[in-house]
Amino acid sequence: MPTLFDPIRVGRVTCPNRMFMAPLTRGRATRDHVPTDLMAQYYAQRASAGLIISEATGITVEGSGWPYAAGLWTSTQVAHWKKVTDAVHEAGGRIYAQLWHMGRLVHPSLHGAQPVSASATTGPGQAHTYEGRQPYVQARPLSLEEIPRLIGDYVTAARNAIAAGFDGVQLHGANGYLIDQFLRDGSNKRNDAYGGPIEHRIRLLREVVAALVDAVGADRTAVRLSPNGDSQGVDDSDQAALFPQAAAALDAFGLAFLELREPGPNGTFGKSERPPVAPLIRKAFKGVLVLNSDYDLASGTAELAAGGADAIAFGRKFLANPDLPRRFAQGLPLNADDPKTWYSQGPEGYITYPVAG
Ligand SMILES: Cc1cc2nc3c(=O)[nH]c(=O)nc-3n(C[C@H](O)[C@H](O)[C@H](O)COP(=O)(O)O)c2cc1C
Repeated sequence: MPTLFDPIRVGRVTCPNRMFMAPLTRGRATRDHVPTDLMAQYYAQRASAGLIISEATGITVEGSGWPYAAGLWTSTQVAHWKKVTDAVHEAGGRIYAQLWHMGRLVHPSLHGAQPVSASATTGPGQAHTYEGRQPYVQARPLSLEEIPRLIGDYVTAARNAIAAGFDGVQLHGANGYLIDQFLRDGSNKRNDAYGGPIEHRIRLLREVVAALVDAVGADRTAVRLSPNGDSQGVDDSDQAALFPQAAAALDAFGLAFLELREPGPNGTFGKSERPPVAPLIRKAFKGVLVLNSDYDLASGTAELAAGGADAIAFGRKFLANPDLPRRFAQGLPLNADDPKTWYSQGPEGYITYPVAG
């Protein structure tokens, strides 16, 4: 069985190790969602990850609802992302772009329009906005006529990602955002071809992935899901039926990899009393499977040794330790991450975490 230090091939890319950097929103782009030079420095510092998965990156104005998050819909955004991917590649790394449509979690104060979703539902709690936290507003259901346009938006962003030098794209299907809002029956109340039985609710995921595969190749397309339990108010009445079926549908495409975020009951970034669906998904999905949430060197090593996953994605540990693989290899102590600077602007708590001496 492999260890975290063994190489692995994902699609077109050979990763020198199995310690992937999980996608992390950091809010260091401009108000126009343009990546900054600071971001190039931050990602280049973390180039020793087997693979970097970028922060969630908006595919359109409609899908973007996070202050100072980057986008992939304008030529300026693409040109500035190119500086980021060049910096990562020059430092010897590899980087995928996570493609993001937030659906009902886009607050209208960001771009002036009512958010869209599977159905007319409202996210719980409050959105991050430029004016501080504000309650979510009710979404309007996407009409059947709008769905081809939405799929086209994902394709344009994926093509832009490749033009910007990314090694591939990861469809953000996790954490209660648009794709997840369609997948789960707590937020999908439709009674058309995109709602109701599981095969209908996985249709949008399947169609977007098919279009991405067509546009950039299965060997440059990945997906992230978060099957076990509630994410930002999005939940399903039968996760053990829904997600293996979704994974089986994804298996048919021969994707670069599938990543799962599944916190346990003592999770420190989300918790769930529900069991992970990963063991069932492992049977349904034959490609590279990457697991995430609260892993450390020991539990990540044990997961690979048990055959539960092919690689592990580390979020906060990479956030705070640019040289995480070396620290793990040499048994060096880890820096702790500082939540106060997770989403703040500027260099502090972003590019200032030290490498081990
Ligand atoms: C500051 C921060 C930002 C995050 N942003 C994203 C994101 O953009 N996309 C995503 O899929 N998950 C995001 N997550 C979730 C992480 O990818 C990961 O699932 C979580 O940190 C748990 O993994 P860990 O225990 O290794 O940190 C974020 C988490 C944190 C702490």
